[in-house]
Amino acid sequence: MSLWNKHAIFEKNSIILLIGVLLVISIGGMVEILPLFYMKSTIEKVDGVRPYTPLELAGRDIYVREGCYLCHSQMIRALRDEVERYGHYSLAAESMYDHPFQWGSKRSGPDLARVGNKYSDDWHRQHLSNPRSVVPASIMPGYPWLARTELDARNLKDNLRVMQIEGVPYTQDQIDNASADARAQSSEDDPGSAAFAKRYPKAVARNYGGQPGVTTEADALIAYLQLLGTSVDFKIYDEKAGIR
Ligand code: HEC
Repeated sequence: MSLWNKHAIFEKNSIILLIGVLLVISIGGMVEILPLFYMKSTIEKVDGVRPYTPLELAGRDIYVREGCYLCHSQMIRALRDEVERYGHYSLAAESMYDHPFQWGSKRSGPDLARVGNKYSDDWHRQHLSNPRSVVPASIMPGYPWLARTELDARNLKDNLRVMQIEGVPYTQDQIDNASADARAQSSEDDPGSAAFAKRYPKAVARNYGGQPGVTTEADALIAYLQLLGTSVDFKIYDEKAGIR
């Protein structure tokens, strides 16, 4: 039997073939998996990415509760058509504080990874309560109760604490003041504004188009949507790489 015929041993004996297959797969597996045990993190840190504020985190919970992810993905793939439509492809660091992440693959509606700052707060308010009033052919359901329902701020502290257990670097100060910070972020002239700005220097506090003095679920969801994809300033990276 020449060397070239040796594979006949595998092809004629299923048990030997099976052992051969397992051996080859386990070598491939080891090469891919073992290095991960010796790395502190597989996510490259990127400037600008910060943990969610309590209001944004509450908005994210409403996003999950209402099942927005059933129609919207939040990951721009590194493919030309995606990048031309939605913007820079998503980076791992951009969802490093998402537990669980909202990448998804179902797109009955557009990807939302970079929807932040694309529309005004009022547009979102109108669109959420009745999508067809701004996009006549939309098939998205309306969520009119969000603007009528006051945000339940009782759980915010616990939400932050759970995220801290998951590895998000919230300080005790941020956890203790979660509900005050949610209130302060949803109005410009709240007495807690200065303290909020100190705890979350990169976050924006504003009215989000709702009634002054009342923080609703719509405010939280809009605060979350307006942040999506806006943390990283890609111009810096493009300039470094000589693009633009
Ligand atoms: C049944 C599927 C479906 C569900 C569920 C859904 N959407 Fe949509 N969404 C769409 C479709 C389709 C569009 C595109 C038409 C439009 O703009 O209304 C869209 C558009 C959007 C846009 C505008 C995106 C852009 O770039 O123009 C936003 C923002 C949005 N949805 C947010 C949400 C949020 C938040 C929720 C959950 C509260 C949600 N959607 C639930 C289908 C859905």
